[in-house]
Amino acid sequence: MLRSVLAGCGAYLPANKVTNDDLAKRVATSDEWIRERTGIHCRHFAEEGEMTSDLATAAARAALEDAGLDAEAVDLIVLATATPDNTFPATATKVQVKLGCRPGFPAFDLQAVCSGFLYALTVADNFVKAGQAKCALVIGAETFSRILDFEDRTTCVLFGDGAGAVLLRAEEGTGATTDKGVLSTHLHADGRQHDLLYVDGGPSSTQTTGLLRMHGREVFRHAVVNLHDVVLEALDANGLTAADLDWVVPHQANKRIIDGTAKKLGISPEKIITTISEHANTSAASVPLALSVARADGRIKSGDLILLEAMGGGFTWGSALVRV
Ligand SMILES: CC(C)(COP(=O)(O)OP(=O)(O)OC[C@H]1O[C@@H](n2cnc3c(N)ncnc32)[C@H](O)[C@@H]1OP(=O)(O)O)[C@@H](O)C(=O)NCCC(=O)NCCS
Repeated sequence: MLRSVLAGCGAYLPANKVTNDDLAKRVATSDEWIRERTGIHCRHFAEEGEMTSDLATAAARAALEDAGLDAEAVDLIVLATATPDNTFPATATKVQVKLGCRPGFPAFDLQAVCSGFLYALTVADNFVKAGQAKCALVIGAETFSRILDFEDRTTCVLFGDGAGAVLLRAEEGTGATTDKGVLSTHLHADGRQHDLLYVDGGPSSTQTTGLLRMHGREVFRHAVVNLHDVVLEALDANGLTAADLDWVVPHQANKRIIDGTAKKLGISPEKIITTISEHANTSAASVPLALSVARADGRIKSGDLILLEAMGGGFTWGSALVRV
């Protein structure tokens, strides 16, 4: 059977690093409160004029370099973002040009907020399995600083900007869990929870971009339950247990959500990749950013079994088991 093998990973963070103390100059908050409640120490914000497509292109370039391939090889781009450069066309089409890819192949955006990377990975994996792509770029890129309300201390301290990318290459596998590549993906959505985490604008509703609104405590409660369930779903689907995992790369929303979910699953904290202290919540970029960091620093090695999970607005949530 065809497998989507992870041939390369890349990441990009804007140069502008914003500490909790920097934010405390704008809203009534403190470094102590943010660290204790979220685990966040700082985040990066894009410079004026620096767009999601710029972040995405830089991360994609790094993934191509990591794979030892040039842009000519790419035949699919799926870009997960809730903060596109424009309402249309898709930011992915800009990335296709900025990377210097040959034109013609499909490139599109996908919107599932913080679960966006899991959704994009699933779509690209299915293209590969169907024989419709051989070398797919899957990118998560966000400029959430543009949709934050800097008068709302309950939300503006939680998010940051960044991008992460993976390059998937089609390879024949045996179908066993010892294969390299994406072993399975699991996606969910529950639109009844729309009002717990949303942006209060859009082209069809207000003709404005809008700002992020969230009921943090309720989101927290749902996140631990949904993430626990979707991790077990991935393990069960492959006849594996948490003990078989080498690493978990969770969505980086809140250190307490990450710790609470891991504890509920009986996964040791040493197996969890956390980047939240330096990145904050970069929405669709958070999982591929964390993955890239842990690959680059040598923690995640070839042959390791890793579990990716995320949950976001919608609600949407998902998981994927991947042997790297
Ligand atoms: C947002 C979140 C950190 C708030 O933490 P919490 O422990 O639930 O805190 P509460 O909302 O109960 O607020 C506690 C107090 O802190 C205050 N507070 C909120 N934000 C604050 C800030 N940035 N600085 C200082 N105080 C703050 C509140 O006003 C409240 O004060 P009060 O008790 O006087 O009313 C937490 O709910 C969370 O992380 N939720 C999940 C959000 C998330 O990850 N969303 C993305 C998912 S993709």
